Amino acid sequence: MSRPADGSRPLVEVRSLVKVYHMGEVEVGALGGVNLAIASAEFVAIMGPSGSGKSTLMNILGGLDRPTSGAYFLDGVDVATLDADQRAEIRNAKIGFVFQSFNLLPRTSALENVEMPLLYGHAALGTRDRLEKARGALRRVGLEGREGHYPSQLSGGQQQRVAIARALITDPAIILADEPTGNLDSRTSDEVMAIFQALNEEGRTVILITHEPDIATYARRVVQMRDGGIVSDETVRDRRRAGGAAGSPAAAGSAGGAGGPGGSAAGEARP
Ligand SMILES: Nc1ncnc2c1ncn2[C@@H]1O[C@H](COP(=O)(O)OP(=O)(O)O)[C@@H](O)[C@H]1O
Ligand SMILES: [Mg+2]
Repeated sequence: MSRPADGSRPLVEVRSLVKVYHMGEVEVGALGGVNLAIASAEFVAIMGPSGSGKSTLMNILGGLDRPTSGAYFLDGVDVATLDADQRAEIRNAKIGFVFQSFNLLPRTSALENVEMPLLYGHAALGTRDRLEKARGALRRVGLEGREGHYPSQLSGGQQQRVAIARALITDPAIILADEPTGNLDSRTSDEVMAIFQALNEEGRTVILITHEPDIATYARRVVQMRDGGIVSDETVRDRRRAGGAAGSPAAAGSAGGAGGPGGSAAGEARP
């Protein structure tokens, strides 16, 4: 495959990506030949109206679904050719997911929710190490002291922070977030975006799907989709800095912990 002029390889690269859903007799074209390359440590917002193919693209990038045709290279590996088990392995190793609806288990404490991904494919880790990592990840998102709370005892913003801690626990290179602020008010959205900015500043690649222009300006680059294709791809000027309001990881004075390397970068979210 081709390489950028500097010889580096994109972390994520899709070429001529096509996705067609079959609904009985009806074919729905969700992606019509998408080309996109994302380098390591980028922060990209993917925008577009409802139905434009954002979630379909995210599901393929995350290895949750396969394209109908086209290529997808993740860190040089052709993911489109892998079977479900192989994709699960790559997903576990490299990707953390955050969704609009948080997707936390209801009768399970914050700590146990965060610990969950370590129960799959990380069998070597003992209980004590798992719990320590989970505590570190919760600290990282400013939720120290809430370890024993159930999702119903937490606000929407706190639930989303638990979900981010869960996404971080495997130390993924890439965070994929689909409308993570879709259920949050603007102040809480800012707190959540502070966490994504801090994670990006410590070198993680963040791919954020949103239909809110305000939210997209927290990213460094904005890709616009329409009708299953990319219609623009621009660097964000006047990038918005998250405020680091009370309860954000910056305000919590997180010094990192076991959630990942270089955790102290959370402090950079301070205004
Ligand atoms: N599982 C599915 N089965 C059939 N059609 C689908 C499925 N998921 C998405 N689509 C269709 O694909 C198109 C793109 O959807 P989606 O990727 O969810 O868009 P967005 O996330 O931008 O709202 C839409 O026309 C949608 O109805
Ligand atoms: Mg969607």
